Amino acid sequence: MKQSGSAENEKKLHKNEGIKASSRFLRGTLAESLADPLTGDVSPEDAQLTKFHGIYLQDDRDERSERRKKKLDKAYSFMIRVRVPGGVATPRQWLRMDELSERFGNATMKLTTRQAFQLHGILKANLKKTIQEINAGLMDTIAACGDVNRNVMCNPNPHQSEAHGEVLALSRALSDHLTPRTRAYHEIWLDGEKVAGGEEEEEEEPIYGKTYLPRKFKIVVAVPPSNDVDVYAHDLGFVAVLGENRINGYNVMVGGGMGMTHGNAATHPRLAELMGFCKPGQVLEVAEAVVKVQRDFGDRENRAHARLKYTIEDRGLAWFRAEVEQRLGYPLEEGRPVSFEDNGDRYGWTRGVDDKWHLTLFIQNGRIQDEEGLALKTGLREIARIHKGDFRLTCNQNLIIGSIDDEDRPAIEALVSEYGLDTGLSGSALRLNSMACVALPTCGLALAESERYLPDLVTEVESLLEEAGLREDAITIRMTGCPNGCARPYLAEIGLVGKAPGKYNLYLGAAFDGSRLNRLYKASVKSEEIVAELRPIVTRYAREREAGERFGDFCIRSGVVTPFETGNNYHEPMVV
Ligand code: HEM
Ligand code: SF4
Repeated sequence: MKQSGSAENEKKLHKNEGIKASSRFLRGTLAESLADPLTGDVSPEDAQLTKFHGIYLQDDRDERSERRKKKLDKAYSFMIRVRVPGGVATPRQWLRMDELSERFGNATMKLTTRQAFQLHGILKANLKKTIQEINAGLMDTIAACGDVNRNVMCNPNPHQSEAHGEVLALSRALSDHLTPRTRAYHEIWLDGEKVAGGEEEEEEEPIYGKTYLPRKFKIVVAVPPSNDVDVYAHDLGFVAVLGENRINGYNVMVGGGMGMTHGNAATHPRLAELMGFCKPGQVLEVAEAVVKVQRDFGDRENRAHARLKYTIEDRGLAWFRAEVEQRLGYPLEEGRPVSFEDNGDRYGWTRGVDDKWHLTLFIQNGRIQDEEGLALKTGLREIARIHKGDFRLTCNQNLIIGSIDDEDRPAIEALVSEYGLDTGLSGSALRLNSMACVALPTCGLALAESERYLPDLVTEVESLLEEAGLREDAITIRMTGCPNGCARPYLAEIGLVGKAPGKYNLYLGAAFDGSRLNRLYKASVKSEEIVAELRPIVTRYAREREAGERFGDFCIRSGVVTPFETGNNYHEPMVV
C-alpha cells in the first residue's frame, strides 16, 4: 500500500494526506476554528476537513478587489452541500431547505448536477445552526464533499417501471454502506457525545481507514435507455440490465471522471469502461471492493493524478478487475449489451406504472430564486405546501414534482400556471439541454463566468439555430468556469470551459447519449466570438445532416473535429 511506505515515501505524500491522518477521523481543530469569533474563516487545515462534512470555505469574488483596496479581510462565507441519495426529497425537506436559504443563506438554492442541494453564503456563526436544522429535517451533509464516496445518483424516475423503485433503494443502500463511520460529524455539528479518549483507539473506518480515499469518489446507478446520470463520467457506475419486469443485474463501469487542469497534459477527462456484470445482491460488496482497491492503490502524492481513472489507466483494467475479484472472492460475469438514448431529462407530465403523475420542470442551471418576472422560488414553495408526493432532483439540475394523485393534479397545475413555471414547453430544445456550474462569484476555482453567463449565450445561439431552422432540435450545451468540469462539459455536444475572464475553450463532437467525449475545437475563444465560431458549423449541419443525425455525430462525420482513438489520453467509449 502506497500510504504506508518508508519515511522517504511518507515525505512525498501530498500534504492533505497528513491532514487526514492527524485529523482524528475528521475532527482536526474544527470545533476550535468554529468557536473563534474573530475570524469569518477556519484554518487552512480545517478548510480541507470541512469538505468531508459537506462544507466549502468560499469568499465573494465580486467583492475581492474592493475589500483588498480597503485592506479588509475577504468576504468569507460557506457553501453547504446536502446529500440527497437518488435525488428524492419530501415536500417538508424542500420547505426546510427553502427556509434555511432565506434565514442563513443568500436566499437562493442550487439543485446540483449530482442531485444534491447547495446553499451559499452561510456565515461561520450560522454554520452549526444550519447543519443542525438540515439534520433535524432528516438530511445530512456528511461526505457531500471530500475524499470519500459522495452523493449516490440514480435515474430519478421511479415511475417509469418497477426497476426505478429498485434502483432508488439501491442508491440509498450504497450511500449508507459507504458513509464514513466517524462520530466527528455528530460531535462537531450536532453536539453528539464525544467518543472517549483519543478517539483513534475507539473508532475505526472499516472501509476507508484513517486517511480515507486519495481523492473524491462518485457512484451512479443508470437505467437504460436513459443515461441522465452520465454513467461514463463517474468513478463507478452500475447500469441496470433489465429483464421482464425486473432487473437481472448490473453492468459495472469503472474509471470515469471529468476534471483536468489547463496546460497539464497528464490530466484529462476519461470515460468509464465496462468491467463486468454482477447480480443485484452483489452490488454493495462490488462497490466496497472497488473503493478499497482505489484506497490502497490510488496516488496519494499527486492529487491531480489521484482519481480512480488514473489508477486504472496506469495499471490497466485487467489488473484492476483481478484486484476487485480477489477481494470479492468470486469473478464478475461478463458485461451485457445495453444501450442509451440520451443524457437529458424528459419534461412535462408523465404517468407512472403506479398511476401517479409526475411533472418535470425546467430550472435554469438549477438555481432556485425569485427574479423579476419569475417567482420560481415562491411558486415551488406554494407547491411544497400542498404537495403530498415527493420532489425529485434530476441529474441535469431540473426538478420533478413526483407522485401526484389524479385528484391533486388540478391544484398543482393551477400553481404551475399562476407562477409561470416552465414545464419544458417554452424553451428551445437547446436551452432545455443546457447546464452550467456555479463558478463566479462563489467558486474559488472559477477562471470565467458560467451560471451567470450561459443563459445569455444560449439566447444568442438560439437565434442562430432559429435562422437555420433548428429550434426544435435538441443539442446539449454545457459550460463550466474552469476545467474541473462540474457540469460535465466534456460530454456535451457543445462544451465551453472557462480559460480566463471572458474566454472559453470550445469543445465539439460529444455523443448525445453521453458515451463519447467531445474534442477541443478552438482554445480561448472570446465570449463575443462564440456565436461566430459556431455559425458556419451550425449552418452546415442544417444543410448537410443525414436523417436523425445528431449535432455531435455530425461534427465527427464531417471532420469538424476528429474523435479520440483508444490509446490516446482520452478514451474511446466502450461499446456496451
Ligand atoms: C478537481 C476537480 C474539482 C474540484 C476542485 C471541484 C470543486 C468544486 C467547488 C469548489 C464547487 C463549489 C462551487 C460553488 O458552489 O460555488 C463545486 C461544485 C460542484 N461540483 Fe465540483 N469540483 C471538481 C470536479 C467536479 C466534477 C468532475 C464533478 C461532476 C462530474 C463535480 C460536481 C460538482 C457539482 C455537482 C457541484 C455543484 C454545483 C453545480 O451543480 O454546478 N465537480 N466543485
Ligand atoms: S467547474 Fe470549476 S468553476 Fe465550475 S464549480 Fe466546478 S470548480 Fe468551480
